[in-house]
Amino acid sequence: MAEPLKVGLAGLGTVGTSVVRLLEDGRDKLVARSGRPIEVVAITARSRAKKRGADLKKYRWVADPLTLARDPSIDVLVEVIGGAGDPAKAAVEAALAAGKAVVTANKALLARHGQKLAALAERHGVALNFEAAVAGGIPVIKTLREGLNGNAFTRIYGILNGTCNYILSRMEQDRLGFEQCLREAQRLGYAEADPSFDVEGHDTAQKLSILASLAFGTKLDPAAIYVEGISSITLADLDAAEQLGYRVKLLGVAVKTEAGIEQRVHPTMVPKDSAIAQVMGVTNAVTIDAEGIMPITLVGPGAGGMATASAVVSDLADIARGVRGAPFGRPVSHMTATRRAPMQRHEGGYYIRLLARDHPGTAATIARRLAQRGISLDSIVQRHDAAEQRAASGRSGKPVPVIMITYATSEDAVRKALSAVRRDRVISGSPQVIRIEKN
Ligand code: HSE
Repeated sequence: MAEPLKVGLAGLGTVGTSVVRLLEDGRDKLVARSGRPIEVVAITARSRAKKRGADLKKYRWVADPLTLARDPSIDVLVEVIGGAGDPAKAAVEAALAAGKAVVTANKALLARHGQKLAALAERHGVALNFEAAVAGGIPVIKTLREGLNGNAFTRIYGILNGTCNYILSRMEQDRLGFEQCLREAQRLGYAEADPSFDVEGHDTAQKLSILASLAFGTKLDPAAIYVEGISSITLADLDAAEQLGYRVKLLGVAVKTEAGIEQRVHPTMVPKDSAIAQVMGVTNAVTIDAEGIMPITLVGPGAGGMATASAVVSDLADIARGVRGAPFGRPVSHMTATRRAPMQRHEGGYYIRLLARDHPGTAATIARRLAQRGISLDSIVQRHDAAEQRAASGRSGKPVPVIMITYATSEDAVRKALSAVRRDRVISGSPQVIRIEKN
């Protein structure tokens, strides 16, 4: 039998231990498919003593990730430590510089240093694979890099954060508050150590920057991404979405426009009958629009030990077979600088929810301000709650929710119109604005 591919594994959390298990359980299958065994020969993690529910005694323990990366007995470093800085960064750099392939699940590291690492891999003629870094077990990296490498991409968007999708799904289905659903997501182990990273959209942004680079051949530029999270979404928004034929999802969207590549992460209303709207719970989904084909939607597990480990092992199998592509689908010298499309120029439909003062002329004032900015309304509804409706007068003096859906307009027009409405003092609080994404 051919020589085994010798793996050094850095990081023994949920993903790392699942990689060990998958390689052990799938050994024969992997030999059949790759022509050679894939064997873990050395491991390292922060604590050796920690209980991990797996028998790791048979693997040689190495003191730290950097020593493991330089260990002459390994062919590949698997880095599942996480974080954009050291020790993950130093270990990955050291492995590549020593001519060893790297498989990583580290979205933060790639978003921040992807190009530099790809250049290092290129210089040393080794693979840098990262299927596990985006959407866990969904093979979206391979789909963009290999499956569709003859197509021109026009838009890529998806649910890239399981925690947010879980929260929004639970809020909608079980009529629970945001905080309670977040606590549940943490208990189930979906959320990052700092959950604000999930709910404020930064996790999605890191993943989107990787997908955008693969799709559009641009240099990774997470700072080019407009980011808004889900913490301001209320049950009132989810109810309104339901009644208007939408569902609210946190989407990462990268789209080619005349002004450049628009990259944005924000709560989004998607038509209830779209493929992406059906995706509930911790599941992830990515829709790819490319010239020459109908949109493709990939749906699957975006987090969790086994799902992420399945992507790591598939990357290892490619290396075992001797398959090596450019990490971002093209040589680094062909990756172009992102021409950022400013968010102010984003065009689309908008959902706007205001708390309007219940006085004569309020609706006329709001309508006038929107008209001044050329915004046309698809629908406008003023909602009283049931108790208020029972009050015969119809004028409670209390602010009443006004919900509007606009036809396609620009972000700039919406922002300016709503600032004017606020200055007119006909609403209380801040307007809720949710962008609509057409399928
Ligand atoms: N916190 C992430 C999520 C884990 O909720 O999707 C996978 O990156």
